[in-house]
Amino acid sequence: MSEDNIQSTLHETRHFPPSAEFLKTSLLSADKVTDLYASAERDNEDFWADQARIEIDWHTPFTTTLDSSNAPFYHWFPDGKLNVSYNCLDRQLEKNADKVAIIFEGDAGDVQQITYRELHTRVCVFANALKAQNISKGDRVIIYMPMIAEAVIAMQACVRIGAIHSVVFGGFSASSLKDRIEDTQAKIVITADGGNRGGRVIELKATTDSALEQGCDSIESVIVFKRTGHDIAMQSGRDIWWSDAISDQSSVCEPEWMNATDPLFLLYTSGSTGKPKGIQHSTGGYLLNAITTMRWVFDIQDSDVFWCTADVGWITGHTYVAYGPLATGATIVIFEGVPTYPDAGRFWAMCERHGVTIFYTAPTAIRALIKQGDDFPNNHDLSKLRLLGTVGEPINPEAWMWYHKVIGKEHCPIVDTWWQTETGAHMIAPIPSVTTTTPGSCTRALPGIDAAVVNEQGEEITHANEGGYLVMRQPWPSMIQTIWGDDQRYQDTYWSMFDGKYYLAGDSARRDEEGFFWIMGRIDDVLNVSGHRLGTMEIESALAANPLVAEAAVVGKPHDIKGESIFAYVVLKGDRPENGIDDELTQILRAWVGEQIGAIAKPDEIRYADNLPKTRSGKIMRRLLRTIAKGEEITSDTSTLENESILPQLQGKA
Ligand code: PRX
Repeated sequence: MSEDNIQSTLHETRHFPPSAEFLKTSLLSADKVTDLYASAERDNEDFWADQARIEIDWHTPFTTTLDSSNAPFYHWFPDGKLNVSYNCLDRQLEKNADKVAIIFEGDAGDVQQITYRELHTRVCVFANALKAQNISKGDRVIIYMPMIAEAVIAMQACVRIGAIHSVVFGGFSASSLKDRIEDTQAKIVITADGGNRGGRVIELKATTDSALEQGCDSIESVIVFKRTGHDIAMQSGRDIWWSDAISDQSSVCEPEWMNATDPLFLLYTSGSTGKPKGIQHSTGGYLLNAITTMRWVFDIQDSDVFWCTADVGWITGHTYVAYGPLATGATIVIFEGVPTYPDAGRFWAMCERHGVTIFYTAPTAIRALIKQGDDFPNNHDLSKLRLLGTVGEPINPEAWMWYHKVIGKEHCPIVDTWWQTETGAHMIAPIPSVTTTTPGSCTRALPGIDAAVVNEQGEEITHANEGGYLVMRQPWPSMIQTIWGDDQRYQDTYWSMFDGKYYLAGDSARRDEEGFFWIMGRIDDVLNVSGHRLGTMEIESALAANPLVAEAAVVGKPHDIKGESIFAYVVLKGDRPENGIDDELTQILRAWVGEQIGAIAKPDEIRYADNLPKTRSGKIMRRLLRTIAKGEEITSDTSTLENESILPQLQGKA
């Protein structure tokens, strides 16, 4: 944050108490919520211990709630044993066996329904198939799948046998896949021949092959689910069709009883430096907050049809597709495609078709759909909806109001949920039956979560609307355990700034007069593009790896749909193109970044210069580059620049 002052300019005064209609059926009364906060306040550990006893079926009950002896490596419920798949599936069998667990809709509109009984069977069969492939407790498994029910089945099967999955988003490139395989030293990749998105085929198997050609010596086998049926290559001795892998497998698979602190999964996310880091989550603590937030924030009930539109490649798709809703016995919707195919009414058509009651998506999707006009939602019956949610980035008040009026018909509360890959579950979010919301604010920390805004010295900022660092002052159950294979980086990234006392979220925030939190953005060099985290360094290294490129600097530029777009300044090894423009080269470099990382990381704009603006000590002046990308006048002092004459080129004026 050193170079940017945190200043708050947003002022929003509209307030929305829970609607009478929502309150007719909501579960949490104001008294109950007051009790939750009060008991967490009285004794945070006791509070979580109580919740853990209520919400989780333990194989061996824990006797210690929190072991802080090796902080910041906090261990929740360390002597308890459980299995997450058991808690999601087996315990639904008694009452909910015939309830639909998953409503799947494919890109082309094909629909499947899977009951809890069927899901349990399919997970057990696939878990046995994994065992037959020599996978056991502690082994790492890469899942590189389309957004289909089998992705969730694969995840559940891993956790059933204690294998640690790492899901890689299907939009990531071969090179990103390879990095994750090598970092985890996974033994197996579970993929598909391809996935369908917007009428196009995503070549998952071909990309897997290309990743494996580049190294990945730890991989012993590849399981391939047939989704598209198009031609792909199968390597004998290594690749096996899903259908062959499960044939003859028993539907009985005793869950592996795991320590609460055993790793449940790894999920890679971008940071401000170096390669993406493998965020490691625990078994017990993670499950607990996945469940509590389903109850507190989503008010989940037996009759709900819950649709979180996130892909399982992101944390949102872990906690609110694969685990939280199933652990609370919900019916979920899984969708393979994109919101604009076959037209921009797809989300709303699906809400109507499947009777969705709770809908959770990203502000970027809302903004993109607003542009398509109100006829799309207005042509569908959205009357079953009772609660709406957003995640991933701050929601601008205009998008919030549209969501509220056009989708929620002014009676669905909106829960704006702040959290991160590292936090595992919602941290700051409304409790819809009690919180009076205000557009753009994620409101209050949940019970048992001690969020604060502090200054550089770690002192709490008590002035309303003054910005500072968002921190957590107490550990919480679903917290990151470490960065896979790099304990030091975990300590440095999250705990060093405040000497191990506070968890540093990496966001700036302010609190308003009521104490509500407003997230103001990242404090590090991390971009938020369409709700996805991307490190500027990662994109810069990808560009610099191109033989034509000498150096690159990447900054974010405000974008009305994506939130931020990617703006790259590139210095070529050869001559700078005339006037700094070369569309053909720009296309080549965009495609290159697509191959290095994935399509989501392609720069939107590239500007060529003979040099980058650097201080005399060689530091790139990113703040200046951000100003220039926005097309704003430079008002800051540029006299410390080593090469001031470069400015017109960077501005596209020379
Ligand atoms: O900057 C915050 C933003 O997304 C970051 C976390 O990104 P990721 O780990 O990819 O997880 C996204 C889904 C949980 C945060 O540091 N962010 C997330 N939710 C919100 C948000 N910013 C503002 N408001 C939110 N509701």
